Amino acid sequence: MERKDVLVPAEDLARQRDFQEKIRRMFEARQAHPRACVDTFGCQQNVADGQKLMGMLQEMGFTLTEDAKEADLVILNTCAIREHAEQRVFGNLGILTHTKKENPEQVICLCGCMAQEERVSKRIKESYRHVDLVFGPQALWKFPELLWEVYETHKRVFSVQDEHGTIAEGIPVVREKGVKAWVSIMYGCNNFCSYCIVPYVRGRERSRDPQAVLAEVRELVEAGYKDITLLGQNVNSYGNDLDIGYHFPDLLEDIDKIPGEYLIRFMSSHPKDATYRLFDVMAKSSHVAKQLHLPVQSGNDRVLHEMNRRYTRAQYLDLVNYAKRVMPGLVLTSDIIIGFPGETEAEAMDTVSLVEEVGFDALFTFIYSPRPGTKAAAMPDPATREEKQKWFDKLLEVQNAKSAALHAAYVGETVRVLVDGESDDPEFPLASRTEGNRLVRLKGDKSLMGKFVDVKITGSNTWALYGEAI
Ligand code: 5AD
Ligand code: SF4
Repeated sequence: MERKDVLVPAEDLARQRDFQEKIRRMFEARQAHPRACVDTFGCQQNVADGQKLMGMLQEMGFTLTEDAKEADLVILNTCAIREHAEQRVFGNLGILTHTKKENPEQVICLCGCMAQEERVSKRIKESYRHVDLVFGPQALWKFPELLWEVYETHKRVFSVQDEHGTIAEGIPVVREKGVKAWVSIMYGCNNFCSYCIVPYVRGRERSRDPQAVLAEVRELVEAGYKDITLLGQNVNSYGNDLDIGYHFPDLLEDIDKIPGEYLIRFMSSHPKDATYRLFDVMAKSSHVAKQLHLPVQSGNDRVLHEMNRRYTRAQYLDLVNYAKRVMPGLVLTSDIIIGFPGETEAEAMDTVSLVEEVGFDALFTFIYSPRPGTKAAAMPDPATREEKQKWFDKLLEVQNAKSAALHAAYVGETVRVLVDGESDDPEFPLASRTEGNRLVRLKGDKSLMGKFVDVKITGSNTWALYGEAI
């Protein structure tokens, strides 16, 4: 599909607003006060999609509830990244047979990445007959129309065609209360890392217009949001499909010009597309947090090649060394997969040695989970679960020691944090984040909520810092 065809035409979006209105009037005529429960699994991109679903639901007259039992409409906004995530969703679907028995009028929807998998939609069609509506991420903007069809026809509706995907601007959003906001800057993924299901379920890469992104960030800053994260499967390829010579560092530079007291973060970043220029722009910007999530996945060149990551260990090390040089104090995190098909113990230990060498502030670590339909799922996988667990435990041991040491080095320092939550620890009732996104549990008054404050760090462990506002 040509880039010019990617934007959903205004008249199609207007039609969706008409369906929202029809649904609102239908409930009004019945003098009903419908309630909806949106249960989101998985990554921040999915959280952002969930906020759009809630935005559309509010326009239809729904109030939101967290209790599926009392809801007239239940939406499971699902994740397909690992088998465990899928099992949880099937478990939840099982529970919903009971809520529907209590309330036969209840409408149940399954959307998100799992819904787009043929294997899953087939299973839902055949064995989960209480599910009324199934649609994939590319059909999200058509949700009002699909839901109307369910109410009109009382038939089950499936919208799961394999699509390139579009961009729909102006869908209403229900944001979290507080200071954090998510902004999707692009959708889809073209990389086809051999273990990953995302390119099969979220369509091809398409970037939002820079002006649309800038307008949204400006609005958020004006509304008082202070911690804004730009989202994309690989933000470093932002703009490639726009063909206007405008790329992610350009977008960061332009966002940075927006006046106000706020931080910009972004995720995720693919090392193959990360450039020195990106790090230079981060270094000289005043709003971009000196924090980088740069998933490495493996520290072994053969495994990286089999994963189709398209960089080497040496290239990765060169990138992080450059980033650390131009941003002293940079907080660096990563994703790791242990037990990729065919990985040997020595290769897994190359990953452990890379982790030792880089000194990440924190890691998101996963044991490989085969995703049917991906290239890796068809590769021989001789290592046992026990072996993989042993390698995984070794990795955690090394990382936990590193995180604890890095955290201990903060004790006695004064750092600036954004207070963004409460905790149930009476001694440290507030939760806050450093610019590098490290969690600081804080002594202090609730009036600090939503503010940037200087704190003295008084203690630490593997997962958090402790401090007092000064
Ligand atoms: N098995 C295990 N982990 C995976 N990830 C993606 N696909 C798989 C899989 N099949 C991890 C990668 C990615 C993160 C979001 O999830 O590390 O960066
Ligand atoms: Fe998956 Fe690779 Fe795309 Fe990330 S970049 S979503 S790991 S295919």
